[in-house]
Amino acid sequence: MGRLLRSGAVSLRMPRRKGWRCKLGDDENNQARILVVDDEAPVRRLLARLLERNGYSCGTAADAVEASAALEAEPFDLLLTDMNMPGESGLDLIRAASEKYPGLATVMVTGLDDRALANAALELGAYGYIIKPFESNEILISVTNALRRRALEIENRGHQARLEQQVRERTAELWNAIRHLETTQENLRRSREETVKRLSIAAEFRDDETGRHIQRMSRYCGLLAREMGADSERGEYIRVASQMHDIGKLGIPDNILRKPAPLTPDERKVMERHCEIGWRILAESQSELLDVAAIIARTHHERVDGDGYPHGLSGNDIPFEGRIAAIADVFDALTTDRIYRSAMPLGRALEIMREGRGSHFDAEALDAFFDALDEVIRIHEELSDH
Ligand SMILES: [Fe+2]
Ligand SMILES: [Fe+2]
Repeated sequence: MGRLLRSGAVSLRMPRRKGWRCKLGDDENNQARILVVDDEAPVRRLLARLLERNGYSCGTAADAVEASAALEAEPFDLLLTDMNMPGESGLDLIRAASEKYPGLATVMVTGLDDRALANAALELGAYGYIIKPFESNEILISVTNALRRRALEIENRGHQARLEQQVRERTAELWNAIRHLETTQENLRRSREETVKRLSIAAEFRDDETGRHIQRMSRYCGLLAREMGADSERGEYIRVASQMHDIGKLGIPDNILRKPAPLTPDERKVMERHCEIGWRILAESQSELLDVAAIIARTHHERVDGDGYPHGLSGNDIPFEGRIAAIADVFDALTTDRIYRSAMPLGRALEIMREGRGSHFDAEALDAFFDALDEVIRIHEELSDH
């Protein structure tokens, strides 16, 4: 097949092979709108006729200014532009049009067989580069390929955008779920603590109508646990669980619990049962918090010299939680009014505490207590019964 068109020449011979037209003409892009830009009217007409015969719909423009106006006026799928024109070059037109219309495919048609120019056009996003003189099927093949590539790119972009949207939606859902979970956990934590507190107050109500003892005791225990290096989770367990240390008093008769005088040895034996009753109420649950509470209930009256109750444990056989709770409980008992006696002056109470170092109280825990004395006194004053 001979070259059909030289720049300026106006002759068109259709290819002899019959099949190609049908092949290209059946393309799904055949309804595409193509803008043909060339300063030579015969070339413009020739190209437009060729494309229209093959089912495309065409517009024409003589230079970049006309082309810009045409692109502005109606949507095109492909820009087929000459390189050398008066005014703005085809390369500049491709640059400007590709920026302004990202969905527009561009093909350069030029009399210049220049590799650098071809590269520049392709780098600007041109889908093809055709050198004059060209054969009509070269144009049709380039146009078909450019339109197919454009369709694929548009589809890809749509796919990409859908994916990004999906990722954004899933991420938002995930964050909502996390926030919901955090709120739920916080609510659960608060309601668990509130339940423990109210249950403990119910038990405490029988011999301490303000319930302040358990609040102070709990704060002292949390403070001592932290002071002795317990991590924040364990410290929190100890702080909350210690509120239940005397819950076994629910099982002690009023005449002993509320007796406004020192207890007889027999009454004392009954009173001491509150540790085991508390253990029985709290132990063997599925809850770590209640496990800690059970340990504290059972061991808060043990002494490191083995003279405590209910089991006479000594030293480190007494669990950490029990050794801390013993200090908090005794200090609070000494410094607050009880039914049968009034509160001891703070100085005297601290003396008694100090005398118990290594006998009644675990030495290390008592040192932690004195190290944190300022905070201890602050809690004592903040939660005073008066
Ligand atoms: Fe107790
Ligand atoms: Fe107590």
